[in-house]
Amino acid sequence: MIMKSFKSVSPDEIERINKLQADYFDQARHFFDPPYPEGVPERLEQIVAAAAINPREIVADIGTGTGVLVPLIQACLPGTIYANDLSESMLASVRKRYPGVKTIKGGIRKVGLPDSSVDVFLVNACYPNLVDKHTTFLNLQRMIRRGGRVVISHPMGKAFIKFLKKEMPFPIDDFPDSKLVAQKLFYSYGFGVKAFVDETLLYILVLESIE
Ligand SMILES: C[S@@+](CC[C@H](N)C(=O)[O-])C[C@H]1O[C@@H](n2cnc3c(N)ncnc32)[C@H](O)[C@@H]1O
Repeated sequence: MIMKSFKSVSPDEIERINKLQADYFDQARHFFDPPYPEGVPERLEQIVAAAAINPREIVADIGTGTGVLVPLIQACLPGTIYANDLSESMLASVRKRYPGVKTIKGGIRKVGLPDSSVDVFLVNACYPNLVDKHTTFLNLQRMIRRGGRVVISHPMGKAFIKFLKKEMPFPIDDFPDSKLVAQKLFYSYGFGVKAFVDETLLYILVLESIE
C-alpha cells in the first residue's frame, strides 16, 4: 500500500477540471506559439539537458502543448517520442509540425504505455495542472524503467504560478519548494531526487526511478 502524498480528488472533480483545461487549452493554443519571452529558449534547452537523454531512449512529453520541447528532444536522437495532452487542438498542432511524434490524447493518469517502457518523462509547465497527482505518479512509476528520469520544470520559475493562479479558470498547484519537500513527496512512489534547481526564472526537479 503506497502512502498518499497528494490530496484525494473525486473522479467527478477530476473529469470536470480536466474538461475545463482541455477546453481552455483548445482555445489558447496560439499563446504557445513563438516568439517566446527573452531567455525562455535557452532555459528550455537547460530543461531538456537536465533529462540527459541518450540516443535511442524512449521519451514521453507530458502536457506537451504545441510541442515546444520536441525539437530539443529530437536533437538527442531518441528512439521514440510520445507527446501526451488533454487538448486535441494542441496535439493536432504537434502532429502537423512533427509527424514522427506519437501523440496520446487524455490525462496522463490513464495513459497505458507498457510497464517499464519509458526512459524519460518531461513535464514542462504542466505539473501545477495535474489534478490527480497520486494516480499520475503511480502510473509514471509503472511505465518508467528503473533509472529512468522524470523532469518537472517551468521556464519562468516557480513564482510564475502566483500569476497563473489568478488568471486560470481551473486550480493551479504549487511546485515542491525545496529538495527536502520533493524527496518526501515522491519517495513513496519509488522516485529519488536527482537534481533540484530553483532560480528566479527557472525551476527544474529531476526525479529518478529507484524501483
Ligand atoms: C501550460 S501548458 C504547457 C505546454 C508545454 N509543456 C509547454 O511548455 O509549452 C499545460 C498543458 O498541459 C496539459 N495538461 C494538463 N493536465 C494534463 C494531464 N493531466 N495530462 C496530460 N496533459 C495535461 C494541458 O492541456 C496543456 O496543454
